[in-house]
Amino acid sequence: MNKKRESWSSNMGFILAAAGSAIGLGNLWKFPYLAGRNGGGAFVFIYVVLVVVLGFSLTLGEMAVGRNGELDAFGSYNKIKKGWGYIGIIGIICCFLIYSYYVVIVGWIIKYVVIYLQGGIDRDPAQIFETFISSTVNPIYYTALAITLTSLIVFKGVSKGIEKASKVMMPTLFIFLMIILFRVITLPGAMEGVKYFLKPNFSLITPSVVIAALGQVFFSLSLGMGIIITYGSYLSKNENIIKNSLIVPLLDTIIALLSGLTILPAVFAFGLEPSAGPGLIFITLPKIFQSMKFGGVFGIIFFILVFFAALSSTISLLEVLVTFVIDQASLKRENSVIFLSIIVMVVAAFNSLSFSTMSELKVFLGMNFFDFLGYLTDNILLPLGGLLLCIFVGYIWKKEELKNEITNHGRIKFKLFNMWFYGVRYLGVQILSLILLQSLGLTGAAVWYVLILILFLQAAFEVFEQRGKANFFNR
Ligand code: PHE
Repeated sequence: MNKKRESWSSNMGFILAAAGSAIGLGNLWKFPYLAGRNGGGAFVFIYVVLVVVLGFSLTLGEMAVGRNGELDAFGSYNKIKKGWGYIGIIGIICCFLIYSYYVVIVGWIIKYVVIYLQGGIDRDPAQIFETFISSTVNPIYYTALAITLTSLIVFKGVSKGIEKASKVMMPTLFIFLMIILFRVITLPGAMEGVKYFLKPNFSLITPSVVIAALGQVFFSLSLGMGIIITYGSYLSKNENIIKNSLIVPLLDTIIALLSGLTILPAVFAFGLEPSAGPGLIFITLPKIFQSMKFGGVFGIIFFILVFFAALSSTISLLEVLVTFVIDQASLKRENSVIFLSIIVMVVAAFNSLSFSTMSELKVFLGMNFFDFLGYLTDNILLPLGGLLLCIFVGYIWKKEELKNEITNHGRIKFKLFNMWFYGVRYLGVQILSLILLQSLGLTGAAVWYVLILILFLQAAFEVFEQRGKANFFNR
């Protein structure tokens, strides 16, 4: 590489951008409805436990890979250990697919910002929503708008585009969320929702709740697909990535909790259904705004805040692809952005049509195109990316080099290094394998057999390593 690589202008800029990627529709749209569907407090409890156990650890792993490799997701893995770049490729494909359906929803959000700016909704919100998403051309137009806005920011580069935009959007988002939260919490009846959200009923915790929570941890923290690797690759060697990998998941979780504390109490205060699913923010919330004093103003504030959250996520999805093309194909940033945006627009159009013309077209296991991509990414590619990351960090990367990267060659103390390392090596690999098997439909005895096999392999590796024979991977 002869040209100097771009970088963040400050650590704060990196944190805001990484938090911007993490904080998105996952927090504001998906988290509240998943909590609403999966038993409220029980789901929230499991979610927080999983963030603490897995979220921080994997974020640190990805940040280390990226900062060490100083390349895109493929290049970084490959530089640390030749031949392992394919882990990054899975992530890059995953980003492309998520981007292609995420922008469709961002398009809907833009539509709602427009609706509220034009005076709000005076008819049945359910009807407005259904009519909009089931029309053919209009949603595609908004999807194109979402892609264009994302491209414009990524076009300008890491510090002048992404960092600058995040510095404006993230604080605004937080302030707007606090305004809505305050308004909702003071509604009569809101406390019921707060209780529902915070009080765990442990009898409701089932394997499917745990799986739902884990999928959400990955999706919400933007893990397992090379985003943190890409953003980390623009980070200076002097920054403390241990601290950074605590702050980013923490900020993301705070926003998810605040968002649940806003949306579910509002739903309860108006006697509506918390388990409304994806329609929660497009149908249920507009109903609430309709019957609220100055609801139209709150509607504008709410949808702008969701828009900022979503845009900072689409930016990160596109940036992973753009960095890959820049680093691997030596294309100019501007050309990469244009090229990728055109391709993604085509796939996104199919996603958008999945709600109209193509809604009956089942592409796989009775799912339409949009649902299939969602299933493939959330249930398969993300846990797979996470599992491969754990294997890479736990077994492939030389432990000493990894430690040097994380501690800036010993300049930063990390007393828990061994606990973290072995946690990723054992628990990380075990938990993610189990989740992946479950998602692939394996149940019962088969799961036990595979678990035993994994434990056996891990133990065997340990024995060989102790004897200094663990040179399978040239460690
Ligand atoms: N983490 C983002 C959210 O919560 C979504 C996202 C997923 C963004 C994957 C980038 C990659 O909405």
